[in-house]
Amino acid sequence: MIRIGVLVGAKGRGSNLMAILNAITAGTVSGQVTVVIGSLKGAPALDAASSAGVETVVVGTANRTDDEYGAVLLRAITKRDVDLIVLAGYMRRLPDALTTAFAGRIINIHPSLLPAFGGHGMYGRKVHEAVREAGVTESGCTVHVVDNEYDHGPVVAQRRVDVLADDSVDDIAARVLGAEHSLLVDVLADICSGKRSLPLV
Ligand code: GRF
Repeated sequence: MIRIGVLVGAKGRGSNLMAILNAITAGTVSGQVTVVIGSLKGAPALDAASSAGVETVVVGTANRTDDEYGAVLLRAITKRDVDLIVLAGYMRRLPDALTTAFAGRIINIHPSLLPAFGGHGMYGRKVHEAVREAGVTESGCTVHVVDNEYDHGPVVAQRRVDVLADDSVDDIAARVLGAEHSLLVDVLADICSGKRSLPLV
């Protein structure tokens, strides 16, 4: 059974995390979320994990260098024998210690069709605002392998959604979020069933 560690953002809603947990409960994903790690106590995603009975750990970034933060994070993950790390709403660049130790075993879900609308500073609503501004007729989401650059590693899978002429930014965000949940679950189902093997690259 694949053991999954999920890293969430300080302000993340945790909807992708919940999509994973629901898929595991439903039997679509035959893995196990063994730990959810965030940087801020009381973050909605951490609370959602606790309510679902999953162990949560807070690894703060304050007063720590990137290397120190990376070492603590890596220890928290290796202690729980994690096979795969999923970034779900995690906003920071992952410390090198993690991307090295878990090469090909870390995936991120990003709310655009990378490489479009990705990179440092391109997150959350900003992505959908940029999509609206650009006047494109489709957007979507990407699951990619994480390396040490923002939104940069090899693409694992993408799902497209239409952007309609009269869509608001919120409309685009909602449509993309629905696609994120299904794409992430599909990728995890494939990894957990062995259809895609680890490391991914
Ligand atoms: C998602 O849009 C994801 O693509 C991005 O951060 C957001 C997290 O949302 N990386 P949630 O916390 O999973 O609801």
